[in-house]
Amino acid sequence: MSKTAHLSLQGKEIDLPLIEGSEQEVGIDISKLRGATGAVTVDVGFKNTGSTTSGITYLDGEQGVLRHRGYSIEDLAENATFLEVAYLLINGELPNKAEYEDWDHQIRHHTLVNEDMENIFKAWPTGSHPMGQLTAMISSLSSFYPESLNPNQSEEDQHRTIRRLIAKMPTIVAMLHKKSAGHPVIYPQNKLDYVSNFLNMTFKNITEEYEIDPIYVEAMNKLLILHADHEQNCSASTVRIVGSSHANLYACISAGIAALWGPLHGGANQKVIEMLEAIKNDGGDAKKYIEKAKDKNDPFRLMGFGHRVYKNYDPRALIIKKSCDEILDKLGIDDPVLDIAKQLEETALADPYFAERKLFPNVDFYSGIIYRAMGFPVEMFTVLFALGRLPGWIAQWKEMRDQKQPIGRPRQIYTGPTARDWVPMEKR
Ligand code: CMC
Repeated sequence: MSKTAHLSLQGKEIDLPLIEGSEQEVGIDISKLRGATGAVTVDVGFKNTGSTTSGITYLDGEQGVLRHRGYSIEDLAENATFLEVAYLLINGELPNKAEYEDWDHQIRHHTLVNEDMENIFKAWPTGSHPMGQLTAMISSLSSFYPESLNPNQSEEDQHRTIRRLIAKMPTIVAMLHKKSAGHPVIYPQNKLDYVSNFLNMTFKNITEEYEIDPIYVEAMNKLLILHADHEQNCSASTVRIVGSSHANLYACISAGIAALWGPLHGGANQKVIEMLEAIKNDGGDAKKYIEKAKDKNDPFRLMGFGHRVYKNYDPRALIIKKSCDEILDKLGIDDPVLDIAKQLEETALADPYFAERKLFPNVDFYSGIIYRAMGFPVEMFTVLFALGRLPGWIAQWKEMRDQKQPIGRPRQIYTGPTARDWVPMEKR
């Protein structure tokens, strides 16, 4: 097979080299295109554009395959701890026992946040969305650790920043939850593992004992793993592009959180529950809402459905759907919105509109039902997505910096007015 693509453009001929990945994906390297021809490519929304080569996550959207560093998402969700997956994403290999113990120890001992961070809450009006608060809190870590502003940190300093982020994120997320309820913050307990510590900080009431339910720990661990990375999605690309300007890692993660917030990305998990509740309150007629989703004059979209890359069932959604049944069963919860979700899915999958467009449930379709059963308010759902996605963002950032990638700066095709003369105010 030829290793080049031949382009003939306005009388100029150029051979463009092909790049082949380890899973035989093929890309056309256009890095010399503009120099040779004066033309650029245009691909709004990057539907056909690979922004990088990457060794972190492999995704085959046609087959519904997701692997991190070669390990299937099914194996990881079944067998790993979230911290193991975080280590794998960031360092490239699963940790051995000694490496894991050291990683776990380091993270347990960075969980506290500076007491001054509590002051930040005083500035926010009651009812502020926790995603906005999270972007600010994570960005503000750069003020508490100003050494992170050095873009040429030593490897050890960079690792310390990474460990700090992973350790402090659950503390900050739990803090957001407590503050929104007007309750005192619960401090981290370093004797607890990562997930138990997070649940303790979130659900323990200062006046009462709290027993951490192993069902919650298992569910949360799995949900965090399922959200841990998803290659060059909107927020990961944001983290990489912000990082490419050598902004500090806290700022990059804060930018990633902002990108995640949108309802077309991580914000969909909140919107799914709101949609299911609205359908329930409107009589629970799934078919009516499927018709609305198909109607091009109706802005309604089936939230938690469809994906830029998956043209098959999202493998994460399969695992979450199964967990959802198991967890609600174990907790003895009968949530009517789960039935509505299943009806919606069944109706949509049997409908030619969804079949032709290859629209399937995505990771956000069932996750909120589990979060709600565990007691998380709906505004916290996307924050939980961010907590899970953190190691993926860090791994993407680190890969981009390790590869010494240049600043991200796309081109455009200008379509505005051509040069014209200045018009004085009285003549306009
Ligand atoms: N409901 C109804 N129609 C849909 C939906 C939906 N949820 N998703 C896509 N379509 C239609 C869309 O109208 C278009 O139809 P047509 O070809 O007739 O114009 C076609 O399917 C292709 O959609 P698109 O918007 O061009 O596809 P995209 O790749 O640009 O968008 C998406 C992907 C995820 C933004 C979109 O499917 C969507 O808005 N889904 C709902 C929001 C959601 O669940 N987001 C979470 C994504 S998974 C978590 C994450 O990683 O972020």
